Amino acid sequence: MFTYRHPTKVVFGRGALEKLGEEAAALGKKALVVTGRNFAKKHGYLDRIGGLLRKAGVEPVFFPEVEPNPSLETVDRGAEVARREGVDLYVAFGGGSAMDAAKAIDVVATLGGRAADWVYPKVVEEKVKPIIALPTTHGTGSEVTKYSVLTDTGRGVKTVVVGDGILPDVALLDPEPLKHLPAEQAAATGLDALSHAVEAYFSRKATPLSDLFALEAARLVFANLPCAVRGSLECRTEMLYASMLAGYAINVAGTNIGHGLGYEITVRKGVPHGFANLLILPHAAGIYAFAAPDKMDELLDRLGIYGLPGGLKEALEVLKKTVGAPMTLRDVGFTEKDIDYLVEKAALYKRNLANAPIELSEDDIRGIYESALG
Ligand SMILES: [Fe+2]
Repeated sequence: MFTYRHPTKVVFGRGALEKLGEEAAALGKKALVVTGRNFAKKHGYLDRIGGLLRKAGVEPVFFPEVEPNPSLETVDRGAEVARREGVDLYVAFGGGSAMDAAKAIDVVATLGGRAADWVYPKVVEEKVKPIIALPTTHGTGSEVTKYSVLTDTGRGVKTVVVGDGILPDVALLDPEPLKHLPAEQAAATGLDALSHAVEAYFSRKATPLSDLFALEAARLVFANLPCAVRGSLECRTEMLYASMLAGYAINVAGTNIGHGLGYEITVRKGVPHGFANLLILPHAAGIYAFAAPDKMDELLDRLGIYGLPGGLKEALEVLKKTVGAPMTLRDVGFTEKDIDYLVEKAALYKRNLANAPIELSEDDIRGIYESALG
């Protein structure tokens, strides 16, 4: 038995951004526009978003202050602005960081308290104020997920605000902003989408429907990420669709080994999230194949991977190399001495690791990190 429900209205394709005014006017009168610090301003999108909202009779209040891997403090500051201004709507424009921050700001401003009060194991069931999400990268899928991944800088740990209450009401997926995405970010975010697809597919919580999303997302990433990194807007458009599909998959099935063991790599060394996941994921492939051999065959078949002796592991490594991602933990500054604390830190990410298709022992986790060291 499984259930499926997804309330987000999706508008996909060129021109979707232009729908912002009418979508916003249907949902509120005053919007907190949440963005990162540079991209939106640099490429003229703050003015454009402000113009579209005003023209539709919605007053914008800007919060262009979200850093990569947003902190609980940033969320609290955003919520202060939202409360002071009395906004009744959120517009998130950016990558996962901006969208995730907007969701959590909405929770804190609408339901009270501080960001730290709302992190998992608390679950936000109550509907917060409407959110319109406009992704500018092709990785996170946050525009269609119930997750807001944040960093607790005090404890040095990635944490999450989660619940159906924070699912965006509207997702406007316009490929146009992707033309400004630097190659490295295109590679890192695209690999995040791939990790969502593969991890959701091999998750304990996977359903036939989430598998449908995950398989197609993985196929599209292998077919389109290399040309997306080289700058093709057509390929980036396919990637935007793939990252959305992968978002649907994790919204049902969650992530597991790549994310659970990858988060600390970002916390400790600042490695972009998608690169961090792919430092781990090839070394989880053996566990996935052991736990679900038939599903592994189906995935390889779908990807058109035949005759590669290393199977999925090798295919992932080839893709990493093609798009210029770091290949090993050593490449990003880890050594043998770091393995003990990495294994210890993995205990903080049980939420993810519990979705792995088999229960992982400490030795399994150590084995993955040792093999990822290279
Ligand atoms: Fe992710």
